[in-house]
Amino acid sequence: MAFNIAIDGPAGAGKSTIARALAKRLSYIYVDTGAMYRAMALYLLREGISAEDSGRIEEACERVDISIIYEDNVQKVLLNGEDVSSLIRSEEVGNMASKSAQNGRVREKLVELQRQLAAKTDVVMDGRDIGTCVLPGADVKIYLTASVHTRAVRRYKEYLEKGMEADLAQIEEDIEKRDHQDMNREISPLKKAEDAVLLDSSDMTIEEVLDAMTAVCEKNK
Ligand code: C5P
Repeated sequence: MAFNIAIDGPAGAGKSTIARALAKRLSYIYVDTGAMYRAMALYLLREGISAEDSGRIEEACERVDISIIYEDNVQKVLLNGEDVSSLIRSEEVGNMASKSAQNGRVREKLVELQRQLAAKTDVVMDGRDIGTCVLPGADVKIYLTASVHTRAVRRYKEYLEKGMEADLAQIEEDIEKRDHQDMNREISPLKKAEDAVLLDSSDMTIEEVLDAMTAVCEKNK
């Protein structure tokens, strides 16, 4: 049976950095489920479909193919066969993903893909509902969080490092809005699974978080 590690938490808590590093340490596959919701959002933006138009979103689900491939252990997201991995990282796509992820059909489609991946391979999967909904029987569940300010500063630095323009106050506001949306939606809201281990990374380095997570995994093996 495949060994599954579920990592959930709000936007910017460091999930993807940590999950990727943990997967590398354990020689597992890293599955970034947010990238799937972002690919779906990119499709909707390109088609000019509004996040409120559930009819057209549901129709779109029937003709959209989202898949994941791995090249040198790096996840790539394909949208109808096109590698969109680098096109999905903008705030615009992230905000659209947060809105369209409220649609039940979108979730059903992507959760199925996530479960298929986890059934056959040892994975570290990160998202919002992995421990509560996608893989309720995961061997290890971690809820990784950090204060809104810490998360905004991290995002801000990431943008500057990539040479992109960034406005800290705007990022902080976007993070708060996204948290609210993700935690209060009707279907699969972001919340800590009862049996998940809570880690607050506000005052921890990446190495410290990684060591804490590795210790949790060792205990559950
Ligand atoms: O993690 P990331 O910021 O890439 O996710 C983008 C959006 O996709 C989130 O704000 C959330 O609304 C949605 N999402 C989700 N369930 C997941 C992963 C992401 O609803 N498992």
